[in-house]
Amino acid sequence: MSKMVDSTIKILTLISFLVLISQGYSQCSLSNLFIYQHPTGDQLKQFPEYHVDIINNCPNCVQKNVKINCPNFETVEYVDPSIFNVTDNVCLVNGGKPLLTNVNVTFNYAWSNSFRLTPNSSVISC
Ligand SMILES: *[C@@H]1O[C@H](CO)[C@@H](O)[C@H](O)[C@H]1NC(C)=O
Ligand SMILES: *[C@@H]1O[C@H](CO)[C@@H](O)[C@H](O)[C@H]1NC(C)=O
Ligand SMILES: *[C@@H]1O[C@H](CO)[C@@H](O)[C@H](O)[C@H]1NC(C)=O
Repeated sequence: MSKMVDSTIKILTLISFLVLISQGYSQCSLSNLFIYQHPTGDQLKQFPEYHVDIINNCPNCVQKNVKINCPNFETVEYVDPSIFNVTDNVCLVNGGKPLLTNVNVTFNYAWSNSFRLTPNSSVISC
């Protein structure tokens, strides 16, 4: 093997190593999706109102097609389906469009109790 080919192989090996490292550092997962909620203190038709913030905190990747477990979710307050689309027990966030880093997707709902909302799935896109 010539010296030139040999050093080219070394450089390529180094580059693929660095690519692997940087991918390792930039990878995020569903655990970077946070759902916070709190009562607003207001009432609608005598039902307490709740405020929901959904946040992707992955520093360098968006999360799209975000779905949230929302078993038995009900509300007397209108919730825009392009923000939170209630279908059976899984709700689609933001119409499937990307959640940018640390940009809250928010909505309010009102019911006799709050609902347990937990991340179901998302597509990470870096
Ligand atoms: C985003 O949501 C978090 C958690 O509920 C909240 O503390 C923060 O104030 C919200 N930010 C904006 C800009 O609404
Ligand atoms: C909400 O879900 C229904 C099906 O359950 C679908 O027909 C509709 O297009 C969805 N809307 C949005 C904004 O995702
Ligand atoms: C996502 O929702 C589906 C349909 O309800 C369910 O079978 C699955 O277990 C959920 N996954 C997670 C991680 O909650």
